[in-house]
Amino acid sequence: MLQQGQQEESGVRKPSFKWYKAMAFKKIIILGIESTAHTFGCGIVDEYGSILADTRAVYVPEKGGIHPREAAQHHSTYGPKVVKEALLKANISMRDISAIAIALGPGLGPCLRSGATIARALAVYFSKPLIPVNHAVAHIEIGKKLTGAKDPLIVYVSGGNTIIAAFSGGRYRVFGETLDIALGNCLDVFAREIGLAPPYIVEGLHAVDKCAEKGEEIIDLPYVVKGEDLSYSGLLTAALRKAKEPGVKLEDLCLSFRENAYNMLVEAAERALAHTKKKEVLLTGGVGASPILQEKLRLMVREHNAELYITPKKYMGDNGVMVAWTGVLLYKSGITVNVKESFIKQRWRLDEVDIPWQK
Ligand code: FE2
Repeated sequence: MLQQGQQEESGVRKPSFKWYKAMAFKKIIILGIESTAHTFGCGIVDEYGSILADTRAVYVPEKGGIHPREAAQHHSTYGPKVVKEALLKANISMRDISAIAIALGPGLGPCLRSGATIARALAVYFSKPLIPVNHAVAHIEIGKKLTGAKDPLIVYVSGGNTIIAAFSGGRYRVFGETLDIALGNCLDVFAREIGLAPPYIVEGLHAVDKCAEKGEEIIDLPYVVKGEDLSYSGLLTAALRKAKEPGVKLEDLCLSFRENAYNMLVEAAERALAHTKKKEVLLTGGVGASPILQEKLRLMVREHNAELYITPKKYMGDNGVMVAWTGVLLYKSGITVNVKESFIKQRWRLDEVDIPWQK
């Protein structure tokens, strides 16, 4: 993405007279749309970060994991209602909105297309600028905004991503990540395949964490950390194979599985923390809601005389507010995109995005 004053290329717009006028005279209010996976979310946020609206509709598959086309159909059906509800909640009209922010990736192609179609339609019909938001950046920025973390080591764990990153040289640099499946996906598939889920959350805990509470013995399972990178597919395969063995207690298996899964992440994060020498660690993404993982990270972070910042639970998972807030930051930096070139990017990496607002 280009910054203000740079030459226009690849669809990124130079700030217009309208933008300068809006920046000078009008309070910035951004409407953000999130649709990268199961959630269609709409958030409305002002330039100071006040949340004026936060509405969501979540696709729940009847069986198995997310079916991308079904989820996209859900977003197309409920998306317009979710946006309308957000405007009603904020008690404003589209006329008051400065620009539309849309998460263009990373995520599931059909889901991204549904959200992008709605965002583009709103931008064109109401003559509003369109702001391209990276979903991973949005998870980080909402975490920073709501916790007050300034320059943290980021532990971003969700159903689709497992990333350890930190800001350096104008971008969030990835120090470690999963080499195959994400931690959230690993937990969900395991819970589903052994018959513990859905629902995935039981009494505020992930079904695996809940089952592990009654575990007593540790079963030997793969533990794969490669430098600061992680690999979860071997752990998942081995645990599923163990589940079929006679005499294996499900509670012991869940305990062993979750201990390895979380400890791998904490070890990789510790290496990155020692490497970067950051004094703050920010936990964000849906899996970060696990109190077990939070406690493990807290103990590690304390050892390094750093502080752990935990994104509020309501904004750990996908939501439109994080897209809207990142939209504010991008808009203030003069970054928008031409509608006809607002392509979705299913594999849009965190470290491909310039972060001009962070010094
Ligand atoms: Fe997410």
